[in-house]
Amino acid sequence: MVKLFSDAIRDLLSLILPARLFAHFFLKPVFVFLVHPRDMQDVYNKYPFFSVLSPYVLKLFLKWFWPVALSEITGVKLIENGNALPGHVFTISLTPEQMLEDKELARRKIKLAVRLAEKYGADVMGLGGYTSSVIGNAAELGTGRDIIVTSGNTLTAVSSIENIKDIFSRFGLKPASAKVAILGATGSVGKMVARLLSEWGIKNLILVSKTSERLKIFSDDLESKNTVLRIEYSIDISSLVKSDLIVAATNAPSSLIRSEHLKKGAIVYDISQPKNVSREVILSRPDCAFFEGGLVHSPENIVYNFNFRLPPHVIFSCLAETTVIAAAGFEKEDVVEGHPDYINLLRITAPALGFKPHYYKIDFPSEDGN
Ligand SMILES: NC(=O)c1ccc[n+]([C@@H]2O[C@H](COP(=O)([O-])OP(=O)(O)OC[C@H]3O[C@@H](n4cnc5c(N)ncnc54)[C@H](OP(=O)(O)O)[C@@H]3O)[C@@H](O)[C@H]2O)c1
Repeated sequence: MVKLFSDAIRDLLSLILPARLFAHFFLKPVFVFLVHPRDMQDVYNKYPFFSVLSPYVLKLFLKWFWPVALSEITGVKLIENGNALPGHVFTISLTPEQMLEDKELARRKIKLAVRLAEKYGADVMGLGGYTSSVIGNAAELGTGRDIIVTSGNTLTAVSSIENIKDIFSRFGLKPASAKVAILGATGSVGKMVARLLSEWGIKNLILVSKTSERLKIFSDDLESKNTVLRIEYSIDISSLVKSDLIVAATNAPSSLIRSEHLKKGAIVYDISQPKNVSREVILSRPDCAFFEGGLVHSPENIVYNFNFRLPPHVIFSCLAETTVIAAAGFEKEDVVEGHPDYINLLRITAPALGFKPHYYKIDFPSEDGN
């Protein structure tokens, strides 16, 4: 508890005081990954002493709390010279609900976290979970120093395509005949996934999100580049019921997909954090298959010292992308979200560094524990 408190004070001072006063105290980590609590339980897990505060008081306190470093990442090495490349996991204190309620406050906190990363001497910073969705264009966050700020969404889309290809072969689906729906199709990840799927050979796409105009613009754009593609788009989530496979990539703070949205034997590949499918729906539809996606298997020598609530050595693709950019020493101009050249660069560099696409079937033990 004393360490948590003194670290938080150190980070507050480094935000307030000039960078040169701190340059000698820090190890000069080269990259930072920003997270946030997924829910209040995450906050209580990390800071158990907060349980003395009522949820209402704690939420107020979290709105006011500054970004802090949570853990150190070890085992990453620079490709160029093999030197150790330390990293840090930072957090802002807002939950997804709080970020959606007050996007301006969320943006201010994220910008403060970028400033803290710069004070730590970071050259690369990745925005995890909701932080990239709230910010929009991560690349614009790089300030005075030449820090690269990434959403990590490109590797998320790239690894998802590899996972989906694998699911197709496991389930005997054919790209030319299968119907694939993308929920959250006008988002940063959803658009890239739709593009890459159409380039792979998917011919029937159902695009679903909240805003009709954006869906129409995106659908027209996709169709103009691929004349054999048949696209349906809708703001009605029940259109999912026609699809063989649903890719869920929304920024909704709670689950959206209900049992009646799934046809018999449907497959759901869920990238969203928090998940777009609830435990209840998964348990109620044994005929369907539910996968957690957007993941990467990380080399075993890299230790993240942070509980992402994922299987051992499995991390979020956005964290993997941040690590790849830092370890490979990419230039700012290389890192252009969704650009074909950047996609190709990641397709080569991520596996060369030992990062492999990963996904797993979501299973819950039955009531009797088996
Ligand atoms: N596993 C990973 O490493 C990883 C990496 C990056 C992102 N993610 C997760 O992927 C998800 C998408 O991220 P993003 O950056 O692409 O978000 P984004 O750009 O903000 O896009 C969100 C999309 O969700 C749609 N949406 C929101 N609420 C909806 C609703 N109720 N019904 C239908 N559509 C809805 C939005 O529609 P409108 O455009 O109409 O508003 C938009 O298309 C997030 O959950 C994020 O945490 C995971």
